Amino acid sequence: MIFIANFKMMLTTPDAINFVQKNLHTYATLANQHKIILCPSATALFNLSKILQGSSVAIGGQTCGSNLSGAFTGDISATDLAACGATYCLAGHSERRSLYNEHNDAVATKAKLIIEAGLTPITCIGETLDELESSSTLKILEQQLTPILQAVATTKKKEFFIAYEPRWAIGSGRTPTASQLSEIFSFLKKTIQELSPNISFKLLYGGSVSSKTISTLASISPLDGFLIGGASLDFQEFQKIVDYFN
Ligand code: PGA
Repeated sequence: MIFIANFKMMLTTPDAINFVQKNLHTYATLANQHKIILCPSATALFNLSKILQGSSVAIGGQTCGSNLSGAFTGDISATDLAACGATYCLAGHSERRSLYNEHNDAVATKAKLIIEAGLTPITCIGETLDELESSSTLKILEQQLTPILQAVATTKKKEFFIAYEPRWAIGSGRTPTASQLSEIFSFLKKTIQELSPNISFKLLYGGSVSSKTISTLASISPLDGFLIGGASLDFQEFQKIVDYFN
């Protein structure tokens, strides 16, 4: 299984270094059996990739700029993330979509740039509570997914991860039921295979993944892994989630 730890903006760079150094041995052990990807803040990324060198733990960016280089003050390119040791990068996390107005086309452009920089994009999609309550989930997911598929199809590598993260589940302690999730993941798999038969992909779930919710979430099919926010900052909790699959 794949486990992605999204540290968000919760740790300073020295705190992230201490956290990873303290748990390095166990991270490395977990990564012998599963794919473990840590997404720290951009300033911590270079140091963490050095600390993790020699282990199978991978590093990812949390977002990237909308260009690969140039006069874009304050932006961090996917090329730079790759040069600092990242091999993955999130695109379209719901916090980026809702707080920074990153719309579907902008997310698709980032997914393409991430691949062009040599990384694997972890593209996030998910409906709001209003959209859930008006039974629009599948329609919204298709609208979010289609431009990403079109963008990925134009690249040489044609590989991406897709993380379904219902916005109302992020940080709320609430998760969809296993049967809702199975329906959604079957829909995503079918849609990707129909629209883009040549693209290779992994399906992830994110939103209030914890040691309490994992037993329900573990029964979802088809699913390749989890994107974990809050629980990734409590190492024992993160370890319990991964250990559930051992
Ligand atoms: P959460 O966050 O696990 O704290 O709900 C998930 C995410 O934002 O990726």
